[in-house]
Amino acid sequence: MAQLWGGRFTGSINELAWNFNASITFDKRFLEVDVRGSKAHAKMLSKQGIISEEESNKICEGLDTILEDVKSGKLEITSKYEDIHSFLEANLIDRIGDAGKKVHTGRSRNDQVALDMRLYARDEVKHMEALLTNTLTVLNQIMKDNLDTYMPGFTHLQKAQPVTLAHHVGAYFEMFKRDLLRMRDIYERMNYCPLGAGALAGTTYPLDREYTAQLLDFYGPTLNSMDSVSDRDYLIEFMSALSTVMMHLSRFSEEIIIWNSNEYRFVTIDDAYSTGSSIMPQKKNPDIAELVRGKTGRVYGDLMSLLTTMKGIPLAYNKDMQEDKEAFFDAIDNTANCLTLFTDMMATVKFNKDNMEKSAMMGFTNATDAADYLVNKGMPFRDAHSVIGRLVLCCIDKNCAIDDLTIDELKEFSELFDNDIYDAISLETCVNKRLTIGAPSPEMMRKVIEINEAFLKEDK
Ligand code: ARG
Repeated sequence: MAQLWGGRFTGSINELAWNFNASITFDKRFLEVDVRGSKAHAKMLSKQGIISEEESNKICEGLDTILEDVKSGKLEITSKYEDIHSFLEANLIDRIGDAGKKVHTGRSRNDQVALDMRLYARDEVKHMEALLTNTLTVLNQIMKDNLDTYMPGFTHLQKAQPVTLAHHVGAYFEMFKRDLLRMRDIYERMNYCPLGAGALAGTTYPLDREYTAQLLDFYGPTLNSMDSVSDRDYLIEFMSALSTVMMHLSRFSEEIIIWNSNEYRFVTIDDAYSTGSSIMPQKKNPDIAELVRGKTGRVYGDLMSLLTTMKGIPLAYNKDMQEDKEAFFDAIDNTANCLTLFTDMMATVKFNKDNMEKSAMMGFTNATDAADYLVNKGMPFRDAHSVIGRLVLCCIDKNCAIDDLTIDELKEFSELFDNDIYDAISLETCVNKRLTIGAPSPEMMRKVIEINEAFLKEDK
């Protein structure tokens, strides 16, 4: 056990308590950001004349060599240390002697860990943005390829009105676009530097917090030292945004699972993203989509865990906050994996366009358009609704579609029916005439795709 705080103690810590308290097994992820932060702190200390330039250089070089040695496998991060901060400081002192003992001047692990988490989370926000851009690019391509791929649109999972695959996928484009914009929002609010807050009340050293913030590419320093060490709002915001990403992925996964079912056969998932059964030789299961759906609950759980951890913590730092890490790492790892895998699966999925179109032609998806036809011939909508309702009942009886009826049969329901009805309720007309903003006609969708592509371009 190599701790930073021996002086005040006479006895040694219980082994179980040591392990319970330690965070090195998971905060070793902070190795790189902790080095980044400590180097900036050392540079600022020397600029302010608190340590010498030579000492600062030694600290920076020492930290760099430790980082290199861990990366190359020469140096191992072991549970001998309480956390990554202790590991780095102890190794630094081993390597450079007395100068290493000065790195923690005017700093506490409370502001150090707050900084590490911000630096780490900030990189992850950027990473999520990149993954979401990739998802949007794949969806945009599917949309472009499927402007005329007709399929049923559903409400209550019952066939409702015809749409196109481009339109259906376009709904998810909007969701993931909002997810991406949320990431940018979060970045704007979180990008302030907590280092210099000390344990909770700042410090008497003349630290230049603006300089440290600048060295680390923050917009500026945080403005209240107690808040700085105990704020985890940005993680909660981020995990809430990740939960929303997962909710979107889960909904889409659910659709893929339904579309992949023997009954629908709208899609064929590539072998690379499906698995078989140990007993049933015929099976090809959509496990990746199911797991994405399953892991959504887990990411929600991570968010709930941190929200609950934070709710009873008085100012300022309390050790409960160490619990932020595992939940946060779990949320980002799982969301990143799910986004990557789901997107790759979508890039390779085969859409069975014939099955989609056949399905759109059944289930009376053109019933609204048949009613609108009568309205255009002068019938009030409520009457038209009732006429078509009776007509559908008759079709169900005969097991046929509205367009299968002859004009004479149609005229029994209303004299207003004429030969132009067939064209008016064809799949093409039903879709292509929906020209309002946001509607599925290829003409409208082309405009939306133009807007989406401009967004993706400006995003680069
Ligand atoms: N491992 C701790 C955490 O993650 C670092 C801060 C420790 N501070 C302290 N006062 N014990 O929160």
